[in-house]
Amino acid sequence: MNPEDILKFSLADFGYNDNDQVLDPPADFETWIDDPRVGMAMSFFEQPLEKAPTPRTTLEHRLSGESRQMINLTSYNYLGLSTHPEVVEAAIEALRTYGVGASGAAMLSGTFDQHQKFAAELAEFKDRGGCMLFPSGYAGNLGAIQALLQRGDVLVIDEKCHRSVVDGVKLSGARLATFRHNDAESLDEMLERHDGKRRMVVVEGVYSMDGDLADLPAIAEVCDAHEVALYIDEAHSTLVFGETGRGVAEHFDVESSVGMTFGTLSKSFGGIGGFICADARLIRYMKCYASPFQFSCALPPPVVAAMRKSLEVATRDSTVRDKLWKNVAHFRRNLETMDLDLGESDSQIIPIIVGASGEKLFNLALSAQQRGLYLQPIDFPAVEAHARRFRISVSAQLTEEDIDEACNIIEDVIAGPLKAGELDE
Ligand SMILES: Cc1ncc(COP(=O)(O)O)c(C=O)c1O
Repeated sequence: MNPEDILKFSLADFGYNDNDQVLDPPADFETWIDDPRVGMAMSFFEQPLEKAPTPRTTLEHRLSGESRQMINLTSYNYLGLSTHPEVVEAAIEALRTYGVGASGAAMLSGTFDQHQKFAAELAEFKDRGGCMLFPSGYAGNLGAIQALLQRGDVLVIDEKCHRSVVDGVKLSGARLATFRHNDAESLDEMLERHDGKRRMVVVEGVYSMDGDLADLPAIAEVCDAHEVALYIDEAHSTLVFGETGRGVAEHFDVESSVGMTFGTLSKSFGGIGGFICADARLIRYMKCYASPFQFSCALPPPVVAAMRKSLEVATRDSTVRDKLWKNVAHFRRNLETMDLDLGESDSQIIPIIVGASGEKLFNLALSAQQRGLYLQPIDFPAVEAHARRFRISVSAQLTEEDIDEACNIIEDVIAGPLKAGELDE
């Protein structure tokens, strides 16, 4: 690989391994990733946190090896439940009763009373007949789609759907078709074009890289017109959207058009795990055929006990949700004065779109980090190459002072240089 070409490559280029030795990575990948400029960019990934994912955390910066106090705008801990005292206490108590792990797959010895109670509580919360838990959100989408579909079926998904959905359809053997992001007309066209034995549509409630909401009223109408099942991934919207926190389907009042609803416990719940809620007969069937449920260890009981408490805290009143929305409004008001490209966000996820240059993105990330702001750069291929960005995850735990300080840094080290074109070639 020519050194001048190094920055023309990205992670999108090395997925195919042309090395004869299966246990050796591609030679070009090694040349690329060993280049100091790529090393600088990669140093922003897997930076170890040394404290809880709260708005003020401590991080070991991989480049310097130093521990630093940072304002953290990266975590999915939207409601601050990962460190909520009642949630932590529930985990500690369950840890003493049950030990650390489930020590078995859910079908065999891995189901505890905590799992059964929590599944029933989630089903009631989502107003569905049944619920099943998975070891992670990724495993939940993967397993649900793999168990629902088979060869001869067609899955039609929004082009921005999460990788777990795409991997699930690969495992199922069904055909995959994508429609243009949030475009109900494009969905309609795809459903006209792709016939199958059975069909299903998947969309997300809140899209994770853009923070925009699914246009569910229009999408549900198209699904209803074609009599096609609708599956919604409410990973980023559960506990956050809707009058009772059920998500974007509740927000738009289209829950009766949704056949299956998916959620994760790793975001607003502050833990780990995935779940789906649907008709009880279907859940009973899927428990027998969803591989990640059948062939992976069940969630640790202390995590489940903690997640039960998260559900209780987040739904007993709207305090934490109201605080989140107050923070989102304050953050957005500040950012809107800075002439930044904030995309189409309508949620607690706010992108700052920087443009096509990866170098610019990582240089800005470095300046932010030097000023004590932990802001995650999102590079191609995670987002389109022309729309590299930072992604702010607003948390209910941020104080107004945290937000103001973070915004001052963003203004100094991101908005200012972008406006002045300082990093343009
Ligand atoms: C939309 C969406 N679905 C599913 C997942 C997978 O969830 P988890 O990280 O809990 O495995 C994610 C994770 O980021 C996501 O953004």
